[in-house]
Amino acid sequence: MTEPAETMVSGAAVRIVEVGPRDGLQNEAQQVATSVKIELIERLSDCGLRTIEATSFVSPKWVPQMADADAVLAGLQRRDGVRYPVLVPNQQGLQRALAAGVDEIAIFTAASDAFNRKNINASIDESLQRLAPVVEAARAQGLAVRAYVSTVLGCPYQGAVPLTDVVRVVEAVAAMGCYEISLGDTIGVGTAHQARTMLQACAAAVGMQRLAVHFHDTYGQALANTLACLEAGVRVVDASVGGLGGCPYARGASGNLATEDLLYMLNGLGVDTGVDLPRLVEAARWISEVLGRATASRLGRIGMNTGACT
Ligand code: HMG
Ligand code: MG
Repeated sequence: MTEPAETMVSGAAVRIVEVGPRDGLQNEAQQVATSVKIELIERLSDCGLRTIEATSFVSPKWVPQMADADAVLAGLQRRDGVRYPVLVPNQQGLQRALAAGVDEIAIFTAASDAFNRKNINASIDESLQRLAPVVEAARAQGLAVRAYVSTVLGCPYQGAVPLTDVVRVVEAVAAMGCYEISLGDTIGVGTAHQARTMLQACAAAVGMQRLAVHFHDTYGQALANTLACLEAGVRVVDASVGGLGGCPYARGASGNLATEDLLYMLNGLGVDTGVDLPRLVEAARWISEVLGRATASRLGRIGMNTGACT
């Protein structure tokens, strides 16, 4: 007999990759002060988050909000036991990341040519050619390298994305030696069955233990898609405090799965994360207030009421 859904993931450890300081802030139109970015990262590590994507060494001409990546890392009190990966698009970004003393980078490409052209000015194949030596150089310097594959459930420009294209790109970044591959539903169009099918196809190619999921919540599907993928065996989930996020080059994309809503669900499932939920809700409310907007997450809106899964 099959077990009920919740016990299929209960007791398992899930690693949360907090992407708020990068994915969350990169889409902000108003320049966010470097000191706020640093305080956000520090508040998130105070909550017990152990992987916090800190910033992005992309071209400041393309994403002005991330132009202070060097200053963010220089001002950060890095803590033992916390990983601070940064996004890197090319050799120039890698050199800046190395100068900033990072331990881990994340490269990124997509399963859609059309999105890649808008986001990184390259086709899929051009991006893979550009990234292979970046990964090689980073690994030779002892850095851990994560990879993102975007548009795995749909593209804002191309529409549907064939599963075979997703698997091909996942295999290519795995072959470069990326230790983990995060599967991005960049515009949040996918639903649970599609998400699980896509994950399983990628897992058949590179193994489930190398995969993470990264859901944007445009259509309110991120939490459902995450649960479907947890039940299918994934154990690494990207999320963003306050549900902040979006890619400036993905038309129609909105925020990520909110970390505090994810955590509420994981706590209810009995899944161990080591993250302090009330403190995280407080961090979500703080950053939303600083940015001058209502918190996008459910928990940020209602707070931690009596009886909630802490
Ligand atoms: P390009 O214009 O083709 O590159 O952009 P280029 O080499 O011709 O460089 C243009 C200018 O930028 C030059 O300056 C370079 O020096 C400079 P100029 O000579 O004109 O003065 N430059 C840089 N400066 C600093 N650091 C660098 C760097 N690179 C070039 N690293 C490029 C190609 C890839 C650079 C550009 O398209 C880019 O930076 N794109 C990044 C876009 C981005 O950050 N998108 C959001 C992240 S992806 C995402 O959010 C999705 C994800 O969350 C997963 C999901 O949701 O699916 C990860
Ligand atoms: Mg994203």
